[in-house]
Amino acid sequence: MTRKEFLKWGASGAGIGLTALLTSRCKSTSSPTAPATSKTFTSSSVQSHTHTVSLSQTEVNTPPAAGISRETSAVSSGYSASHAHTFAITQAQLTTVMNGGSVTVESSSADGGSGAHTHVFTIAKWY
Ligand SMILES: [Fe+2]
Repeated sequence: MTRKEFLKWGASGAGIGLTALLTSRCKSTSSPTAPATSKTFTSSSVQSHTHTVSLSQTEVNTPPAAGISRETSAVSSGYSASHAHTFAITQAQLTTVMNGGSVTVESSSADGGSGAHTHVFTIAKWY
């Protein structure tokens, strides 16, 4: 093999290797899963029960001036009669969440039969 032939074969070998390397990448056929448009947050457990509340991406991205106030899920367990609390988050807290921060929100007080109590929700951006 002459020097010229050697170089020719070496160059084509490198080309084949490079082609194999490039075609082996970016082969994924599955598209990334889009984040959920809403999320359900679970409260702290008090008197052996929790509640949930949901927020949407829209509510976080465009926080209403008056904030958001809504009922939590109801609960009925061995310790508590069915009851719900009011969850209220301010526009400033929602803005903190939008910017990637985490806020804690204490619910209103309610009595499920075992005494008045509140729950704490930790709200953070999920998308
Ligand atoms: Fe409760």
